Amino acid sequence: KSKFTVSSFLLAKANREKITMLTAYDYSMAKIVNDAGIDAILVGDSLGMVVQGYESTLEVTMNDMVYHCKAVARGAENALIVGDMPFLSYHISVEDAVRNAGRLIQEGKAHAVKLEGGIDQVDNVKAIVKAQIPVMGHIGLTPQSVNMFGGFKVQGKDITKAQKVIDDALALEAAGVFAIVLEGIPEKLATLITKQISVPTIGIGAGRYCDGQVLVIHDLLGMYSGQSPKFSKRYAALNATIQEAVKNYVTEVKTAQFPEAKHTFTIDDDIINELQQ
Ligand code: KIV
Ligand code: NA
Repeated sequence: KSKFTVSSFLLAKANREKITMLTAYDYSMAKIVNDAGIDAILVGDSLGMVVQGYESTLEVTMNDMVYHCKAVARGAENALIVGDMPFLSYHISVEDAVRNAGRLIQEGKAHAVKLEGGIDQVDNVKAIVKAQIPVMGHIGLTPQSVNMFGGFKVQGKDITKAQKVIDDALALEAAGVFAIVLEGIPEKLATLITKQISVPTIGIGAGRYCDGQVLVIHDLLGMYSGQSPKFSKRYAALNATIQEAVKNYVTEVKTAQFPEAKHTFTIDDDIINELQQ
């Protein structure tokens, strides 16, 4: 598989080929996901919940994001790496937003950044794109707005809010994003937006007709002990698999079944004899 780029995103939409995206937060997982043929890897600030154990994404810092982007970049040879801009890294000033986006590229080795918001983010998007950094938008149920929403709630269900999501998508497209994540909105609204805009839509909880799909890897693998959202699908139950493996290890160590001779290193008996004297 050849390298997936920002141009590949646009080409995929033109060719009606679905775009595949998953999160990863470290080298080993990035390598597995990359080698399985994923188009793009999102180093999501969801790591605040699934890696760091916080109840929201709001605690994640720029340094956290740079650290995880670096690790993912070493494992992902062909996938396009998108680094998430964390809460407060683009809310204070445009200058700050460009500098922080730049850190994800320069230090984190990401190829693009993602930020949450629509009309409100137009100035940031334009400035970051002007710095030659591709930007992915993210609208609908934007987790960094959890306190404004009063929880992780589906967005765009009434006419005013649905129109707001459409206006956000159009504003982001005009500002120059190369793709937009649509999260937690009704399927028919996502379909409408997907038809209306020229850049690909990447859905998560946005129905069947987006140009691509994204999931949090821990949800897909069944390795998050918190509540996975209704829109995610478990393709494996790794929590149980990992727990079983660890239980077996504990039992085998307790009962001296592990390690076995084949796991050990040898030394000449002569040396041991000499040491014993
Ligand atoms: O942080 C994340 O994983 C995300 C995806 C759910 C889109 O933003
Ligand atoms: Na995110």
